[in-house]
Amino acid sequence: MHQDIEEILISEEQIKNRTDELGKQIAEDYKGKNLLLLGTLKGAVPFIADLARAIDLNLEIDYMAVASYGNSTQSSGIVRIIKDLEGPIDQKHLLIIEDIIDSGLTLHYLVDLLRRRNPLSIKICSLLDKERERAKNVVVDYPGFVIPDKFVVGYGLDYAQRYRNLPYIGILKPSVYSNVAIPEDEHASPAENH
Ligand code: IMP
Ligand code: MG
Repeated sequence: MHQDIEEILISEEQIKNRTDELGKQIAEDYKGKNLLLLGTLKGAVPFIADLARAIDLNLEIDYMAVASYGNSTQSSGIVRIIKDLEGPIDQKHLLIIEDIIDSGLTLHYLVDLLRRRNPLSIKICSLLDKERERAKNVVVDYPGFVIPDKFVVGYGLDYAQRYRNLPYIGILKPSVYSNVAIPEDEHASPAENH
């Protein structure tokens, strides 16, 4: 285990098993449909890579990079698009693949924005679903794991852009937060969706 990690919340094996289950379910639900998996950069990259290989269908993959305006601890719900989809989605069933849903503000805004492009349907799959009060009510159609309201890293999730490469989901030691002085613009926070 990495020295900065206090506890492994979800092991590599648990992630793999749950991803395979979700993949089977998604393959059943989207059989015969034109499916586009939309991954959000950067956090959802490991998850979408594994999930896509667990879905036995012809599908497409594209990515969006978004950042939410706000201070370091709260997202405002106003999203800036850093990288958009490559093409139109009006002939496609959209499945948004997220790493984690926290306040729900970022995703709520994203769904609103994508709905205006008239996809055949929009659903959400999120590896992690934080158990907390949502600022916006976002329904996760395919939840991976419901987790307590703690800041987690690994398997795509970062703190100050680090720990994304850990193969498991872990809780950071509090000393990591208090010891490291991070410049304001590099703050990793729930408000920054990348
Ligand atoms: P929200 O749902 O608008 O509050 O923002 C969700 C985004 O905040 C996610 O896509 C992550 O990038 C980030 N985030 C929220 N909680 C965590 C966490 O526990 N660890 C790492 N990133 C997080
Ligand atoms: Mg992040």
